[in-house]
Amino acid sequence: MKLVSITTVLGLLLLTKDSLQEDIYENCHNQFEPRSAICKKFNFISSEEAVKKGCIVPTNGTTFYDLSDLPEVNKIDPKLVKFASLITNVFEDGDANFAYASCEDIHDSRGYTSGYAGFTTGTGDAETLIETYTKSHPNNKLKKYLPRIRQISNMPYCDRKSRGTTKGLEGFCTAWKSEACDESGEFAETQRAWIYENYMLPSARYAARNGIRSALGKAIFYDTIIQHGFQYVEPDINIVRILTLTGPRTKNESEKDYLTRFLTTRRQLQCCYPDDVWPASASRSADLQTLVNNFEKNKDLNDSIELVKFGRRITGKEDIHTDSKRCK
Ligand SMILES: *[C@@H]1O[C@H](CO)[C@@H](O)[C@H](O)[C@H]1NC(C)=O
Ligand SMILES: *[C@@H]1O[C@H](CO)[C@@H](O)[C@H](O)[C@H]1NC(C)=O
Repeated sequence: MKLVSITTVLGLLLLTKDSLQEDIYENCHNQFEPRSAICKKFNFISSEEAVKKGCIVPTNGTTFYDLSDLPEVNKIDPKLVKFASLITNVFEDGDANFAYASCEDIHDSRGYTSGYAGFTTGTGDAETLIETYTKSHPNNKLKKYLPRIRQISNMPYCDRKSRGTTKGLEGFCTAWKSEACDESGEFAETQRAWIYENYMLPSARYAARNGIRSALGKAIFYDTIIQHGFQYVEPDINIVRILTLTGPRTKNESEKDYLTRFLTTRRQLQCCYPDDVWPASASRSADLQTLVNNFEKNKDLNDSIELVKFGRRITGKEDIHTDSKRCK
């Protein structure tokens, strides 16, 4: 999982310091101005304090929460899967295109970040994805990197610096792109299936526990789990933190009102986080809130929608099979 969009980071680097400040906080004004009244509850600490506090070591072989207390969800309407993915693609990559072939070391101590949901070589998800793909496609070009990726996975979890290495992975991005652009579309499909299983279904279970029925509400939960994760090793930013601080849906509360409270907490978190990247991502919550404001029109996601801050329209008719931006 990648926490931030590389396009956001690159975009910011091009700005001067003064306009940089303004740009980061563009969606953090008025009720979202970071100040003690809204930020205190998150109890965010500076990066130096975080280093002192140390990192949570996984004890049960996973960094994810146990979901067994949540309602089961066995299937999600493919139309919703597509629409939700397109929205998150815009937020992550600037347009609805599926970034299957993206691959880059974004220097966030996670090694190479690749694919449309940011699989990384330093956190184990690229490893399981390539393993799954190799089962059905034993001659793929990524297979030869598995031994080295497994070595990285076996390094101490909290040794971020070592796990972020790309040494021994020379040529990984070329191989990734070649598989992702292959005409068969099978690596792209493996990516979609992995995301469906490991992020889309869990997000739908969190949504179900809060009585979310609308397609729009489910898409909001999906986007949240993609950006914030549901890993207990990242307790201050994950979806569970947002849910806890939002509080349960009250008895007569409409879905629209609950989603508004949820997105308010999420946007406060984004605005209050003490770095240069999360506040910039408040544009995601701002655009989703605009859709929620017109709940009756947008709730089924069967008409085209506008993501105003990102300047993109989604129709639901976009191609999901190829990364046309990167594969020529
Ligand atoms: C693993 O352990 C952590 C810490 O006790 C817990 O929060 C998490 O839910 C567990 N995950 C699973 C999948 O059992
Ligand atoms: C969306 O589609 C569903 C089922 O296909 C239909 O019941 C609903 O009225 C449609 N909503 C809008 C706003 O067109």
